[in-house]
Amino acid sequence: MSSKDYRRITTNTLSEMKISGEKIAMLTAYDFTLAGIIDKAGIDVILVGDSASNVMAGHETTLPITLEQIIYHASSVIRAVKRALVVVDLPFGTYQSDSKEALRSAIKIMKESGAHAVKLEGGSQVVESIERILQAGIPVMGHLGLTPQSIYKFGTYNVRAKEKKEANELIKDAKKLEEIGCFAIVLEKIPATLASEISRSIKIPVIGIGAGKNVDGQVLVLHDFLGMTQKFNPRFLRRYLNLSEKIDHAVKEYTKDVKNSSFPNSDEQY
Ligand code: KIV
Repeated sequence: MSSKDYRRITTNTLSEMKISGEKIAMLTAYDFTLAGIIDKAGIDVILVGDSASNVMAGHETTLPITLEQIIYHASSVIRAVKRALVVVDLPFGTYQSDSKEALRSAIKIMKESGAHAVKLEGGSQVVESIERILQAGIPVMGHLGLTPQSIYKFGTYNVRAKEKKEANELIKDAKKLEEIGCFAIVLEKIPATLASEISRSIKIPVIGIGAGKNVDGQVLVLHDFLGMTQKFNPRFLRRYLNLSEKIDHAVKEYTKDVKNSSFPNSDEQY
């Protein structure tokens, strides 16, 4: 499928892409420099994910990241981006207690970072919050399947919805999120056949991560995609670079050059 040369990606562009069969490419980013590089390279959507809690801050889960911290990352990304749609995760604990709190958190993100949309995890249990956020004019991306903010409820990061009952609930939730007005949904780590069925049964774009190829787009965490992380090796992950090896090599070279006084040389001084 050939891709149209969109000057600026909006939520409407994503629905046009779904209609025309053009797949949506999405990556996460958390800082100005990398966001600028991936935006210039033509990524469609940048997610300022709460995975920042893992890859930027070194936490084991996504739970610790705060609203202030995600806003800091999102503002840095927004300053760099000229074309991509920037979606920001609502952190754990900033939308679950009630819909008014959810709206306050979403408004704070939009106002203080300049983001274009928010994403939050869950189905039927967060419908009221999503509706309230949407009523304020803030676009919402849903997130179903493996929802890492609920890791202590699930107990593992294994594939979700392999059983019929959970699969049916997931289908119901996806349809509900479409009905109330989400502009897209992320489906994480579910069987490819189920993701494909959901993508065909709703009109809004479905972006997969570990959900097979028959969905409307794909998302990966930037640090995994670049090969900066090494211990995280799920089957769905394709590393496009081995940056950690390249950085390791560069640092060794630099250290050697400093120690033997070959850096800086006479051209590299004033
Ligand atoms: O936080 C994140 O990076 C995400 C993606 C895995 C979809 O939610």
